[in-house]
Amino acid sequence: MDDIKLQKALEILKKKAEFKPEIAIVLGSGLGSFADECVKIHKTVDYKEIEGMPYSTVSDHKGRFVFGYISDIPVVIMQGRVHYYEGYDVSEAVMPVMLMGLMGAKTLLLTNAAGAVSFNLLPGDFMIIEDHISWFVPSPLRGKHLETIMPRYPDMSNIYDKKLIQMIYTASDKIHIPIKKGTYLQTSGPQFETPAEIKMARAFGATALGMSTACEAAAANAIGMRVSGICYISNLCAGMSNSPITAEEVYEKANEVLPSFKKLIIECVKEFTKK
Ligand code: HPA
Repeated sequence: MDDIKLQKALEILKKKAEFKPEIAIVLGSGLGSFADECVKIHKTVDYKEIEGMPYSTVSDHKGRFVFGYISDIPVVIMQGRVHYYEGYDVSEAVMPVMLMGLMGAKTLLLTNAAGAVSFNLLPGDFMIIEDHISWFVPSPLRGKHLETIMPRYPDMSNIYDKKLIQMIYTASDKIHIPIKKGTYLQTSGPQFETPAEIKMARAFGATALGMSTACEAAAANAIGMRVSGICYISNLCAGMSNSPITAEEVYEKANEVLPSFKKLIIECVKEFTKK
């Protein structure tokens, strides 16, 4: 992580947006339209407008910050994330999330598409992330110590805030959307896993798995944000069904869950800011 690059990017973003968000949201694969349809937009800033910022190369990920309001609550949204598998360092991949925290967002809601590792999950399910495992993905905090914003050895024993987890349950109850919970495992990607790797992930204690999120959660936790995460399950992992896994399947499932997902996010934002 490069301190000067981060501070420079923060200065540029502050000038362009002039906005203090309360909540930061990261939209997972296929969920990007949430920002266009459910947010009263104040300003958008493309990652490419910020010097030193990595940008999304995945076609569905727009690659911009959206600043605006959900029910009058100021939010910043990452409409498109940056993944380690795109070739960036992990420390670069987490830069947008850290910038949202440094812009003032104290609470983070991460979302993603994930494959089911546990036999208790089915495509279309939602899952609250209770904890995570990072699998062959280097630490996002490796490098020079950013002493002004985080400890050298940040504690990770409670990344996903217990109160936020409770609030997600309350939100999902209110709108009658069932939600499960579990441990998310981040792989490096971009290839999907082998059946043997999935067996290993299950033996490790993973419930669902994907190619993002854990590194972002760790970085956000290190800078003191309150972190939460919700997965939508897009497929059964390798070896759990007879058909091969495809990116198209992931996006098809996203389209199916999108209406419920939108309601859930809006309700979570309201719960998170309830006084
Ligand atoms: N593996 C890895 N990442 C994923 C998957 C999967 O099966 N589904 C959605 N993201």
